[in-house]
Amino acid sequence: MTAHDYKEKIDQALDAYFHAEEFPFRGLADSMRYSLLAGGKRIRPMLVLEFCRICGGDMDAALPVACAVEMLHTYSLIHDDLPCMDNDDLRRGRPTNHVVYGECTATLAGDCLQAEAFGTILRSGLPAKARADCAEILAGAAGLDGICGGQYLDMIWEGQDLDEEKLSEIDHRKTGSLLVAACQMGVAAAGGDESAMDAAARFAAAIGLAFQIRDDMLDVISTAEELGKPIGSDREEKKNTYMAVYGQEKCEDMVRRLTECGKAALRERFEDVQFLCDLADSMVSRRN
Ligand code: IPE
Ligand code: IPE
Ligand code: MG
Ligand code: MG
Ligand code: MG
Repeated sequence: MTAHDYKEKIDQALDAYFHAEEFPFRGLADSMRYSLLAGGKRIRPMLVLEFCRICGGDMDAALPVACAVEMLHTYSLIHDDLPCMDNDDLRRGRPTNHVVYGECTATLAGDCLQAEAFGTILRSGLPAKARADCAEILAGAAGLDGICGGQYLDMIWEGQDLDEEKLSEIDHRKTGSLLVAACQMGVAAAGGDESAMDAAARFAAAIGLAFQIRDDMLDVISTAEELGKPIGSDREEKKNTYMAVYGQEKCEDMVRRLTECGKAALRERFEDVQFLCDLADSMVSRRN
């Protein structure tokens, strides 16, 4: 499958969720669908499906797990944009959730997407062990030592001079953790072994860090139109980023090196890795 085919499959599957036609919940469900279906590159669900495939699993059975990762990711974006966090008004080329629905509904939409992500995994048709493994992996990536912990560090270290170790501590948690989880959930959905889990983690940790460094670069070198989100947001919020500390050239070099590292880890364990290597390469020079 091509990346385009994957995206179509994922978009179509996501569109089936949260049709709450009943009056009292309609507004909340609408706000969840607003952000979930606003577009997005769908990189994380793609990783779930492709890792499932290279581990010999049934991709269609893993589709709810792929959707769950995108639900959790979308929650993290809605909350990341809130006035109390990054205070941004554009996301995926549209006004952010709180701009359209207000802060309270946006907060609840995020909470609800997070809960529904776990429900979606647990209700899927995968074997019980695969469901439990996927839920556990996702919980780890979302929680204290994952997105929430990373977002907390991102906040409390605002405006401070950080060394490379601290910068990577933030980025591995706030961004790398969910990319690692996506790859590992694909392995888990297929019932893959420890060595597959380990290779998936090493690949995703490397490309995850590269992904956030590129994100920080785009906040400086892109345009809001191309990016679908505001530029200059990191500087405005006094964020610590690789881009602010090391500059564009060194960042470009780091992204390239990390991507090669990730691909090498993948090739050590798997043979059929063309799609994943191409995806990793496309992320080095992505423009949005
Ligand atoms: C943005 O993620 C937030 C980060 C973790 C850097 P993406 O760049 O994957 O955003 P979408 O899903 O394509 O909108
Ligand atoms: C956010 O990092 C990572 C998340 C966990 C959402 P950023 O704050 O840089 O993400 P963008 O640039 O707003 O997408
Ligand atoms: Mg942020
Ligand atoms: Mg942000
Ligand atoms: Mg950013």
